[in-house]
Amino acid sequence: MVARSVRLGRPSRGKARGGARLPVTVRSATARDAGAWLGLRRALWPEGSEAEHRTEIDGFFRGQLSEPLAVLLAEEAPGQVVGVAELSIRPQAEGCHTDRVAYLEGWFVVPDARRRGVGRALVAAAEEWGRAQGCCEFASDAQADNAVSAAAHKALGFSEVGQVCCFRKEL
Ligand SMILES: CC(C)(COP(=O)(O)OP(=O)(O)OC[C@H]1O[C@@H](n2cnc3c(N)ncnc32)[C@H](O)[C@@H]1OP(=O)(O)O)[C@@H](O)C(=O)NCCC(=O)NCCS
Repeated sequence: MVARSVRLGRPSRGKARGGARLPVTVRSATARDAGAWLGLRRALWPEGSEAEHRTEIDGFFRGQLSEPLAVLLAEEAPGQVVGVAELSIRPQAEGCHTDRVAYLEGWFVVPDARRRGVGRALVAAAEEWGRAQGCCEFASDAQADNAVSAAAHKALGFSEVGQVCCFRKEL
């Protein structure tokens, strides 16, 4: 069965280093968040069409998707969503040793809220979700040229385990 909600402990609070702390509550997405989530997705993955994102969002709320399996939103105030973490469980991941790896499929914070601990709060809640799913490893990836993402991952305790080149050809 596809799990669509997470049971989190206390709401996760953002932590400031780069700027003033932005207190956020991290919670599971509900169908009422579809519009806000769509906006975050379009900003993170502009190469996808709005129709494609809508189809995936609908599929998620219908319980039809394993990727993402869970979606966490960071909310500054009720209705003011400033970040998202999309999560799955992968049977394998680069550098991992187990066959149920919690995976950060998507991670995005709106530009005005960055460097204020929101990404950290999302990852902390994602880790809690992963542990609740019985996972003991958490993995992620980023484009090789995304230096901010690499720095943020490392600041949050991830180790770099490889870099991959992708190829294609017509058949
Ligand atoms: C990556 C991203 C989600 C981080 O969100 P954020 O809210 O700014 O992150 P935080 O403020 O919680 O910072 C977490 C850690 O990352 C580090 N970090 C964040 N942005 C950084 C930057 N621009 N340069 C260097 N380090 C950075 C911080 O130092 C922080 O560690 P610290 O608190 O110990 O100092 C955000 O920059 C983003 O949405 N980027 C665009 C989308 C993207 O690239 N997503 C990742 C795709 S894999």
